[in-house]
Amino acid sequence: MERHRESRWGKARVAGLGIVGALAAAALVAGNAAPATAQATYEIEPREPEYLYERTCGYCHGHNIAPIIRGRQLPAAVTAAIVRSGMGAMPAFKPTEITDQELQALTAWLEASEADPEEHGA
Ligand code: HEC
Repeated sequence: MERHRESRWGKARVAGLGIVGALAAAALVAGNAAPATAQATYEIEPREPEYLYERTCGYCHGHNIAPIIRGRQLPAAVTAAIVRSGMGAMPAFKPTEITDQELQALTAWLEASEADPEEHGA
């Protein structure tokens, strides 16, 4: 009887080591994978407001498709809300397309921007 119990403890210990070993292996794998994911997400430089405006908004705004939005002191918070939800024929832009940080800088830049006489509104 005593002998039987000892062997059961022996088995439990071996099983315990197996679990610890598996956890250690999983931690190693996770440890290797995590920095690569973090780098892919956070090392992207935010794009400058002027660049974003020209490449994204200026496709319509200032080019006969949408109203002029430069030089009108449009409040940054209102512009940000319109960009996130869309408006009429204007599509909404998700944080995966324009990050919160980029949007904040873009809308502040727009609010302070001068009108560009070369632009044409709709
Ligand atoms: C595909 C064309 C298109 C793109 C790209 C676009 N917009 Fe628009 N936007 C429009 C149209 C059209 C309207 C007018 C909607 C209406 O009045 O129904 C509008 C309206 C707006 C308004 C309100 C203007 C007003 O006088 O009421 C703001 C602010 C604005 N857009 C900001 C932006 C910003 C910032 C971007 C870039 C991140 C952008 N839009 C990209 C088409 C576009």
